[in-house]
Amino acid sequence: MNYRYNLARYTLLKVHDCLETDVKLKTWFTVAATALTVFAAQAQEMSDDEIADRIKPIGQVHVAGAQAAGNNAAAGGAKSGEDVYNSACVACHAAGVLGAPKLHVAADWQPRLDERGLDGVWQNALNGINAMPPRGTCSSCSDDEIKAAIEYMIEGI
Ligand code: HEC
Repeated sequence: MNYRYNLARYTLLKVHDCLETDVKLKTWFTVAATALTVFAAQAQEMSDDEIADRIKPIGQVHVAGAQAAGNNAAAGGAKSGEDVYNSACVACHAAGVLGAPKLHVAADWQPRLDERGLDGVWQNALNGINAMPPRGTCSSCSDDEIKAAIEYMIEGI
């Protein structure tokens, strides 16, 4: 009798425990489900902006690449050194603005070439040096087009 009573009590307690756990679980699931719904809604809301943000840099890179290709295509491949010089370098290098070495003037170029060689002055033209802006401001010019412009400027020296 005593034993049965205890068993019954124990079972009741367990059922009670279970129910309580069950209620707790239900509450937890409800909270979790609500949180998930809110999160999902936010994720959904954010995704449009985020997608736009994520596509943007790729789009820009792509457009920049397309433009470069377009320039080359329009010019029938790489621009000649003379073309680059006339469009980007002439403003300073014709008259020697700010001490720029002048077109085809050996006295201006020879000391620079002696000191750094063609590769050295080429690197300085790409990176900029003192009042010489990087790439002579021709940001769409390829490394080789800048080199061709230099070769044009030092032609015959
Ligand atoms: C805004 C004026 C300006 C423009 C535009 C410009 N340059 Fe220069 N460049 C300079 C000046 C100034 C120097 C002399 C810098 C110094 O040595 O202090 C110079 C120097 C150089 C040198 C010599 C670098 C060295 O190491 O001695 C090269 C090569 C050169 N320019 C190439 C170019 C090319 C190629 C272009 C066109 C794509 C260009 N520059 C456009 C102003 C300019």
